[in-house]
Amino acid sequence: MTRVFVPRDAAALALGADDVARALATHANVVRTGSRGLFWLEPMIEVETPSGRVAYGPVAAADIPGLLAAGLLTGAAHPSRLGRPEDLPFLTRQTRLTFDRCGVVDPLSLEDYRAHGGLTGLERARAIGPAATIETVTKSGLRGRGGAGFPAGIKWKTAADTISDRKFIVCNADEGDSGTYADRMLMEGDPFCLIEGLAIAGFAVGARKGYVYTRSEYPHAIATFDAALKVARASGVLGPDFDIEQRVGAGAYICGEETSLLESLEGRRGQVRAKPPLPAHKGLFGQPTVINNVITLASVPVILRDGAEAYQALGFGRSRGTMPIQLAGNVKYAGLFEAGFGLTLGEIVNDIGGGSLSGRPVRAVQVGGPLGAYFPPALFDTPFDYEAFTVKGGLIGHGGVVVFDDTVDLAHQARFAMEFCAAESCGKCTPCRIGSVRGMETMDKILSGIAVDKNIELIRDLCHTMRFGSLCALGGFIPFPVMSALEHFSEDFHRARLAPAA
Ligand SMILES: Cc1cc2nc3c(=O)[nH]c(=O)nc-3n(C[C@H](O)[C@H](O)[C@H](O)COP(=O)(O)O)c2cc1C
Ligand code: SF4
Repeated sequence: MTRVFVPRDAAALALGADDVARALATHANVVRTGSRGLFWLEPMIEVETPSGRVAYGPVAAADIPGLLAAGLLTGAAHPSRLGRPEDLPFLTRQTRLTFDRCGVVDPLSLEDYRAHGGLTGLERARAIGPAATIETVTKSGLRGRGGAGFPAGIKWKTAADTISDRKFIVCNADEGDSGTYADRMLMEGDPFCLIEGLAIAGFAVGARKGYVYTRSEYPHAIATFDAALKVARASGVLGPDFDIEQRVGAGAYICGEETSLLESLEGRRGQVRAKPPLPAHKGLFGQPTVINNVITLASVPVILRDGAEAYQALGFGRSRGTMPIQLAGNVKYAGLFEAGFGLTLGEIVNDIGGGSLSGRPVRAVQVGGPLGAYFPPALFDTPFDYEAFTVKGGLIGHGGVVVFDDTVDLAHQARFAMEFCAAESCGKCTPCRIGSVRGMETMDKILSGIAVDKNIELIRDLCHTMRFGSLCALGGFIPFPVMSALEHFSEDFHRARLAPAA
């Protein structure tokens, strides 16, 4: 029977992929895959033909009889026929390294993983030894993809150099940033890549145990990753030398912060620990621990496989390699776009994302999750690069790009930032715990037109205190969305005062 690939990624499932798979079940050999990340075309199915795969999308279960009658199984013409998936402009413009296999392979077939270059990175690491493995990661320029952009090789070396008979690798799969889904997509579409990255990290630093901390809102990622762990154990990829356990968190934003995550893993309430000690010195259960994001770890196999130079040759400034940019919000072509750093924000939003979904002018883009700044189109020449975003008062974080059209009210968004901080604060330090509540109250006054200038000054002062007085980046970075809204969209803060009395 002809093979037809139907995604089982959460985004495709939400759009009816299971019904499509059921409708095809008696007509074809249905293989479930991850997503290629072109969400406006999901469910996008692919038919295997002698001349390669042919994609169709978006496809609904009700379309299947018509598609079959038109010759779906031979890749025949149909209004929803998209042609070869590799030729779709959204994919040809990308440099897929980390997400190369996502949407292509059967996520739970280790044979498929091997056939597509999997496990060669781990073999290479074992061949060159721990020190050279760390050296390769350092030379590649790989920086943490979870948000802070800290060089992965330095973190690994710190843990490797700390003497202890028990060390841990912890993978941060909490993915709490708004508009982000790269971790989830990878765990659903290519879980062995993360397993291989963890195994390489364990080998490099001398850890025999890895933990993956996943949020409970990701049931499909959890199930796929658990199933992949079983396959990896049965085939000997995981075993006494290195094994991995997945833990599920309840989905508190602060549990993505590395020290809160450790508290949660140890069975306590997620609350930030003061640093030092660094987790690489004294982390999980007091032992040296490397904590890396899913994408950081999943980038390692290809670095070991193809060499540090190949990875380091891509990118911009001190941001080397590729970044999976996640387009979300009011954008025409929402999806995952992996490319070398350095694309401008305007290219990302307008050329790749196609502008707003509503067709209205784009007014603001929030980059880097809820702690990221709102950028106006006047800053669309900013290159996607850690340093360039810092200079403009923002951050790229985990690569989330959330687009808003001209109906957005940035004063309300600033209030929302304070509200988010109040809801998610771990409560350990005063500027964040109390400041966020005062910030909400002050924003309410501004939104009601009460002593606007005086209250804007209060907000500025409060942001300064939160920025420099908070223990972690939740309270410390909430000023980014608030202050960027004030700086670039100040008219929204004065709207209530200007509005005629009812
Ligand atoms: C409030 C807060 C939330 C965070 N959430 C996440 C998250 O969901 N996922 C993640 O990988 N890193 C998150 N981080 C960053 C982690 O603290 C840490 O820097 C990261 O896991 C290190 O891995 P990396 O170097 O590979 O990026 C968060 C940080 C803060 C302050
Ligand atoms: S800034 Fe907020 S979340 Fe971070 S330690 Fe302080 S109270 Fe906790």
